[in-house]
Amino acid sequence: MIKEIILSGIRPTGRLHIGNYFGALKNFVNLQKDYQCFFFIADLHSLNESFDPKEKHQQIVNLAKDYLAAGLDPKKCTIFLQSDIPQHAELSVILGSVVPVAYLFRMTQFKEKSSDRALDKVNAGLLYYPILMAADILMYDAAKIPVGLDQTQHVELARDVARFFNNKYGQTFIEPKPLYTDNPKIMSLLEPAKKMSKSLGDNHCIYLDDEPEVIKKKISKAVTDTGDGKGLGAKNLLNLIAIFSEPKINQQFLTQAKNKELKYSELKEQLATDLINYLSDFRENKKKITNQQIKKVLADGQKKVEKIVTAKMATVKKRIGIA
Ligand code: TYM
Repeated sequence: MIKEIILSGIRPTGRLHIGNYFGALKNFVNLQKDYQCFFFIADLHSLNESFDPKEKHQQIVNLAKDYLAAGLDPKKCTIFLQSDIPQHAELSVILGSVVPVAYLFRMTQFKEKSSDRALDKVNAGLLYYPILMAADILMYDAAKIPVGLDQTQHVELARDVARFFNNKYGQTFIEPKPLYTDNPKIMSLLEPAKKMSKSLGDNHCIYLDDEPEVIKKKISKAVTDTGDGKGLGAKNLLNLIAIFSEPKINQQFLTQAKNKELKYSELKEQLATDLINYLSDFRENKKKITNQQIKKVLADGQKKVEKIVTAKMATVKKRIGIA
């Protein structure tokens, strides 16, 4: 039986937080058993924000270690580095010709990241980003894209791009759909109206490899409410308890909230303990993975996808009359 194709990527911009994990990476690990999966490191996507080139290689290796430590198995899925496959960039140039710029200007992420400055201070990579993402997806005929809620609009754009291209040049691409976990949007600890994000600051996030003491400190500072569990901060903490703690404990805090007597010191202590336990395997696994191992995983992945992208690009070029 031919397995459906799944593809997703994460940008190497630093350390992964529990939002990245529960929105995306955990799903990658589950899906690798039943689908033909491609998971890549989206390094070209990470260039449109300010970064130190001296750190980029380490960020890539670090993310590859995260993939393996979380449970991705190179025998069950293909793991590769986006920039090792130059055809992603080539396809994005071709796809750019079927996308009206208005579609790019209305992307929420573009608006959010550019609204605080004049357009002459916004790099074109930020605007073009969703077309590169469409190229990543359409290249592999991926049907389902496991992502967090914030990436929905980008996957929808990839659907539009596939349709525009197919209508103009003949059936070439599959229209992909997003695939979500039960927790597709984890909120910031300090500003719970916003999604957890590195760009808000380290104290807004729990990183997967945070040391226990750091986790305790961050949770103790998380915002709450007056005890009825209805404030956004409290809802966020209760949501985290539902994810990380035993159902019995979860129920206990829900009952406290219902009676408007949530004891936040207790809740925070419990959450910190359960988070630390949950993440301990990840922390230990990650320490054991070597740079050499990562080099091999990425080289093997590159070899595997080269055949696929060569064939797909030949079809695309034929359709548009350049091959
Ligand atoms: P990136 O690197 O910003 O995030 C990686 C994944 O983590 C999810 N995520 C969250 N999920 C729940 N709660 C949160 N607070 C949270 N923060 C982040 C994101 O939705 C994402 O799934 N454009 C992508 C990378 C990419 C890609 C692709 C993904 C490039 N090409 C092709 C899929 C297919 C991005 O910037 O993700």
